[in-house]
Amino acid sequence: MKAGFFQFSPAFGDIDSNVNRVINALSGADADLIVLPELFSTGYQFVSKQEVESLSEEIPSGDTTQALAALSIRRNMYIVAGISEKSGGQLYNSAVITGPQGYIGTYRKTHLFFEEKLWFSPGDTGFRVWETPIGRIGIMICFDWYFPESCRTLALRGAQIIAHPSNLVLPNCPDAMVTRCLENRVYAVTANRTGAEARGGKSQLTYIGSSQVTSFDGTILHRATRDDEELFVAEIEPAKADNKDINQFNNLFADRRTDFY
Ligand code: ACM
Repeated sequence: MKAGFFQFSPAFGDIDSNVNRVINALSGADADLIVLPELFSTGYQFVSKQEVESLSEEIPSGDTTQALAALSIRRNMYIVAGISEKSGGQLYNSAVITGPQGYIGTYRKTHLFFEEKLWFSPGDTGFRVWETPIGRIGIMICFDWYFPESCRTLALRGAQIIAHPSNLVLPNCPDAMVTRCLENRVYAVTANRTGAEARGGKSQLTYIGSSQVTSFDGTILHRATRDDEELFVAEIEPAKADNKDINQFNNLFADRRTDFY
């Protein structure tokens, strides 16, 4: 099956233009699964909670989720995309998964990074895996990678592919995903953004691009550049992630010594 990402630089606060950009970019894509960046529709560097609230949407009734669901149906494709969610008086840094039948589900970011702690409530969904005809897809968002438990939990729950919407500013994640995939024998699609934001007199955040498709054996199938917009799709075999044997004596899950952890 074909999985990949669309790396670009969202325009802060311009939901319509960001969503249309994605619709245009994916209109010719030959892919089964496309991952978009974290907060792809809003941009990242908020200056107040009111601003976050004004740009947040309910899921699945909000326009952005509806547009993604329609795109998934039209293109017969799964999409995982980061959205600022409002629900029951709370704001969440969330990701939705949509597919050929429309909206499927939501993940709310577990480990909030930096000023996200000022705006968002910590995610309460836990790590979720969706069984689909193209494979079992788990989601984590950006800084979740820093906690090995995120990928491990998704792998233990059966994920074959980890969809990883991101707005990376630290340099380490693309290299670290090699280890995350190797130690769990899962594929990962990390979709980062490019560009920079320096809003409201704050220090500039420069996003590192470098979106990546990583194989279950730690091979980097492709890494994007730091600055270029790119739609990339790789051929992957999700069933290969089900074999946790490292050799005839070692199995990644069976060899875990949970009594010592
Ligand atoms: C991040 O979690 N956006 C670094």
